[in-house]
Parts: sequence; C-alpha cells; structure tokens
Amino acid sequence: MKLSLCISLAILMLSIGNLAAQELITNPSAGKVLYQIHCLRCHGDQGAGKGPDVHSLIVPPRNFHTPESTAKSEYELRSIIIWGLVFSDMHKWGYRLTSQEIRNVISYIRQLAPYQPRI
Ligand code: HEC
Repeated sequence: MKLSLCISLAILMLSIGNLAAQELITNPSAGKVLYQIHCLRCHGDQGAGKGPDVHSLIVPPRNFHTPESTAKSEYELRSIIIWGLVFSDMHKWGYRLTSQEIRNVISYIRQLAPYQPRI
C-alpha cells in the first residue's frame, strides 16, 4: 500500500515537472514562421512597423525596437497579443493562436528586438 502510494506520488511529481518544463520551452523558428504568416504584413520583416499593409491602417503598427516596446515584459506582450488593442487593427489573436504559438511568436519578436528593461 505504502509503496504504491509512493510510486503514484513519484509519477505525479515527474509528470508535473515535465509539464512545467514543456511550458517554458519556446521555439523562435516556429515563431518566425507564424510571424511571417500573420504579423509581417503590418509589423514588417524586421518588426519596425513597416509592413506592406501599413498604408491602409489609420493607427500605425508599433515598432518593436523602440524603448517603450523593448521594455515591455513578456506578460504585457502576451496580453496585447491575446486581447488586441482597442481602436486599432491589432486584433485579438487569443482565439486564433495557441498559448504555445503565442509564446513562440513572442520569442521571435524578442530575437528581432531583445528585451531591455528600463532602469
Ligand atoms: C492588420 C495589422 C496588424 C497585424 C496583422 C498585426 N498587428 Fe500587431 N499591431 C498593429 C497595430 C496597428 C498596433 C498598434 C496599436 C496601437 O498603437 O494602439 C499593434 C501593436 C502590437 C503590439 C504592441 C507592441 C507594443 O510595444 O506595445 C504587439 C506585441 C503586436 N502588435 C504583436 C502582433 C503579433 C504577434 C501579430 C501577429 C500574430 C500582430 N501583431 C499582427 C497591427 C497589426
């Protein structure tokens, strides 16, 4: 009885550890593919907000290289991508991309414009 309880607990702990590890793994190459399909037309290939569709937008896309953008936490970027920004063409992607895909696309944006906290 005790042994089976120990084994069950060990399996549970191992699987929880595994889930947590999977959550943290990001894949910028997969993020790049998604970015090119969904985001590039507005944000541009370098993330400077100069994509081919910008001329049709009233509110310009943000340039990911500005200090305001590079200082944003992953949580802030994530919220914007999930919920979008009102009164702009930055629509919500939470229902179109999975949690992992959003993580991957953020890791690609961070590759283009690395995180720089403001001091
Ligand atoms: C149709 C054009 C368009 C597309 C497509 C688009 N965006 Fe945007 N995005 C915008 C605009 C416009 C803003 C700025 C809105 C504002 O200033 O209120 C913005 C803002 C953002 C911001 C906020 C950046 C900051 O520093 O505050 C993030 C992050 C972002 N977009 C990510 C993405 C991602 C990821 C995708 C693809 C999954 C994407 N966007 C697709 C137009 C677009």
